[in-house]
Amino acid sequence: MKVLIEKSYNKISKKAAYLVKQQINEKPNSVLGLPTGSTPLRMYDELIEMYERGEVDFSKVITFNLDEYYGLPPDHPQSYNYYMWNNFFDHINIKKENVHILDGMTNNIERECLEYETKIKNAGGIDLQILGIGPNGHIGFNEPSETLNDKTHLVTLTEETIEANSRFFDSKEKVPEKALTMGISTILKSDKIIIMASGESKASAIKKTLSGQINTCTPSTLLQTHSNVTVIVDQGAAIYL
Ligand code: GLP
Repeated sequence: MKVLIEKSYNKISKKAAYLVKQQINEKPNSVLGLPTGSTPLRMYDELIEMYERGEVDFSKVITFNLDEYYGLPPDHPQSYNYYMWNNFFDHINIKKENVHILDGMTNNIERECLEYETKIKNAGGIDLQILGIGPNGHIGFNEPSETLNDKTHLVTLTEETIEANSRFFDSKEKVPEKALTMGISTILKSDKIIIMASGESKASAIKKTLSGQINTCTPSTLLQTHSNVTVIVDQGAAIYL
């Protein structure tokens, strides 16, 4: 894995945005896999600024989001659908029909997950997948577990993740207990992967991602099996490297 250690959160955001821009400029109809959470927020701001300066055109770009809370409607302020439109898509020239986000309100989970896999395949696969990471090494919502469902699926969130994500909700009880997520093999099938992390709370997960034993109990270690991963971290997340 290629590791880029940058001075600050702003610098990792700029670096990641630059790599996304480069990808789109090389292939205007790129298929991007996109993350949510607090880490990519500044990267999205950077991309919006690049778009406003005319440096990047999203008109042919296709996107697939990594995950979505199960049971939250798309207009719920904590849904990842709302997050993506509010923080990114509403500010660039992406076509609505080119945006794909799992439906957290589906009444047919199996069909929703299967169709998502098919749509990714029909789009030609993901060219560039961007990831954040949970403090427990989860990617997307693939939580540590003895066994992992490798395709898009419904997952039960761990206490640790519910706790970590409760900062976005009024109370811990309001955090959904389940989510839909791309599976590990869905992610690993991407041509290129960028994983971003900021701050010391991610340092241990980043250390394991890079050099821990490959193990489903730290899902991010499975990235070691991919041949084109770039890890972009700030100094906080790099303290154990
Ligand atoms: C959530 C998302 C992940 C994200 C993680 C880290 O659980 N499902 O995709 O990487 O949070 O989020 P943050 O960047 O806010 O620390």
